[in-house]
Amino acid sequence: MHAEYAIIGGTGVYDPAMLHDAERHTIETPYGLAELTLGTYAGKRVAFMPRHGYKHSVAPHKINYRANIRALKQLGVHTVFATAAVGSLKQELAPGDLVIVDDFLDVTKSRPQTFYEGAPEGVVHIDMTDAYCGRVRQHLAEVAGEHSLAVRSGGVYVTTEGPRFETPAEIRLYAAWGGDVVGMTSVPEVILAKESEMCYATVAMVTNYCTGISPHPLTHQEVVDTMKANVQKIRELFFHAIAS
Ligand code: HPA
Repeated sequence: MHAEYAIIGGTGVYDPAMLHDAERHTIETPYGLAELTLGTYAGKRVAFMPRHGYKHSVAPHKINYRANIRALKQLGVHTVFATAAVGSLKQELAPGDLVIVDDFLDVTKSRPQTFYEGAPEGVVHIDMTDAYCGRVRQHLAEVAGEHSLAVRSGGVYVTTEGPRFETPAEIRLYAAWGGDVVGMTSVPEVILAKESEMCYATVAMVTNYCTGISPHPLTHQEVVDTMKANVQKIRELFFHAIAS
């Protein structure tokens, strides 16, 4: 079993028709099991990993991020394209917009964040200057331009613990800190990918304005509906990026 590229995302991002010879696998890692689908696109071996499980049954704070990332590493993946639904902290970032994330703020509370917590993997401190791989970010921006897909290059992803949405006061704080979008999954995924020396990039899909910025209370349905309506753009972007 082998893969060069991985796509981590919600079910809508992965269209089984796009991968040839797609097969589901459960991968065993020292951190637990990870589920993914392996297939071929444009001659490249691609792993698709539904972050919340195939039935969206795993809450953001309960995802086994270490098993997921280690499984990709074990397969030989060198480049990871991740996607995530996010709320917007900025008027100019509207529902349906895509953002190539280039930095994060971490306000998670209870998640294992590292492979390096002592034996057996040791204690190592990883540089976060370029947490989201600059090479892949640039490639994604170029591919988006070539295919007339509107994306914003650069944005700070505030990762909250969830699964609840934020309070208006929290949102004011995150905006003042310099955040652009808010979601529940980028940390620790990006950290673990960096520790694993994989090139990892995230294209965030704005599904709503954040609490207090939005004129109405947020619902999970709103997030799901906006993601569904716009996911084709991310799918195109990722598959063009893999092919070129
Ligand atoms: N907050 C946190 N996570 C999210 C949001 C939000 O507004 N929208 C989609 N995921």
